[in-house]
Amino acid sequence: MRWFSALPLGPRTARHRTWVPAMVPWRASPEGDVTPAVVEWYRRLARGRPGVLVVEATGVRDVPSGPLLRISHDRFVPGLSRIVAAVREASDGATLLFIQIIDFLAIKRRVPRETFLRRFATVDDGLRRRLAEATGSCAEAIGALAETEVRDRLLALEDDVLARVLSPRDLESMRRGYRERVTDLHRPHIRELPRILPAAFAAAAERARAAGFDGVELHYAHAYTMASFLSALNDRDDGYGRTRDGRVRLPREVLRAVLDRVGTEMTVGIRMLGDEVVAGGHGIEDAAWFATELAREGAHFISVSKGGKFEDARDPKVGEAIYPYTGPSGHECMPTTRIGPPGPFGRNVPLASAIRRALREAGVETPVVASGGICSPWQAEQILREGHADAVAAARQTLCDPDWFEKIRLGRGHEVRRCFFTNYCEALDQQHREVTCQRWDRFDLASASLKSSDGKRRLVAPDWVP
Ligand SMILES: Cc1cc2nc3c(=O)[nH]c(=O)nc-3n(C[C@H](O)[C@H](O)[C@H](O)COP(=O)(O)O)c2cc1C
Ligand code: SF4
Repeated sequence: MRWFSALPLGPRTARHRTWVPAMVPWRASPEGDVTPAVVEWYRRLARGRPGVLVVEATGVRDVPSGPLLRISHDRFVPGLSRIVAAVREASDGATLLFIQIIDFLAIKRRVPRETFLRRFATVDDGLRRRLAEATGSCAEAIGALAETEVRDRLLALEDDVLARVLSPRDLESMRRGYRERVTDLHRPHIRELPRILPAAFAAAAERARAAGFDGVELHYAHAYTMASFLSALNDRDDGYGRTRDGRVRLPREVLRAVLDRVGTEMTVGIRMLGDEVVAGGHGIEDAAWFATELAREGAHFISVSKGGKFEDARDPKVGEAIYPYTGPSGHECMPTTRIGPPGPFGRNVPLASAIRRALREAGVETPVVASGGICSPWQAEQILREGHADAVAAARQTLCDPDWFEKIRLGRGHEVRRCFFTNYCEALDQQHREVTCQRWDRFDLASASLKSSDGKRRLVAPDWVP
């Protein structure tokens, strides 16, 4: 099978074209450290001997980020090297191990209306003017009110009036929680991102090398900083937005910094969106152009995902933070059997295919990785045979049955435990609870050594079970 043939990825070569893309299983410590449960998660995935295993999104900046792994300081290297050791041992060295490195901006939990209006709403001349207009009051009188009096008046407004008085940004923050954007140029630390991030990603890659990884995957997809630079919604006016050239500038500079640091020894790939799937976002034309630019810059692979944005996510409940996989673009990212035609299976392959075609037409041979609803060897073979991609990735199917690649390779495909594609796992992910699979997490619970914090689910898939 082509799926079990070798694939060169820059300085390293994957033994097979089977691929496990990044999945956050919510097992890191609150300080971002590797825990024994993280190590066991990757050890179990490695026993299925995928060609490539990508460790979950891991933060490059040393900022508190809850139980998400971090690679933002040398103190994280010993923990990360424990993942490497476990994967080497469990796969007998058959699996290339990459780590996905990510930057993200601040998001805050949604606070109650009263808290927002008392503490966070911006009371400036514009708001006073709109308040006077909306309530038919004298502008001078409103202008003379003390700030606390203005806030009292905001609190007394009906919601529809308040919606006309608050700035659009404040209204959104009240309904959806405050969220920083790459376009907030009035904030110095956001303006400075292009100066800070190339070095931060390069230092993270250096730590990945020190920990023993084979490669890094730069997270340029979904709702996070680098995808927001590539986004068609990026209207920064400092040369890092607006045009395609402007939008790809920082992603290219980050890639260059990482390649310069580790690119001769390690694989340096990109995960990016083939389509943002939000109003005003970019589609496949821009994605194909970006992929070509990044491949020409030297990226060793392009892994294609879709959607997963904040813009169309569901409003969070009070006390919760917005989550980017809850709206239509999120559903495209991890499609279920409930999604519309043509269903979840191989749904996003056309994006990978279009990107690969654009690369080849530009004379670039960079491998392309397809993912999204892949759960059978027939799909994988067809994708490879017809030239839609060079490697075929499966996240949820591998979570469901980490041994499935081996079962297929050994001619025991009838023993594969198939994913239901109904996203029980993703629902746990949304609640930031330990991710497990409904097809194995209650199996032989008594003998499981690692259990979820409520003790009701095993955290590691059982041994090879048909
Ligand atoms: C629990 C969970 C966590 C995920 N975490 C990440 C992540 O850290 N980085 C990323 O690029 N994609 C992440 N994804 C998306 C997957 O890599 C993949 O693109 C998506 O699930 C579609 O592939 P599939 O149909 O094979 O599951 C995650 C998916 C799941 C189910
Ligand atoms: S929980 Fe459901 S969707 Fe997730 S991996 Fe298991 S079977 Fe698949």
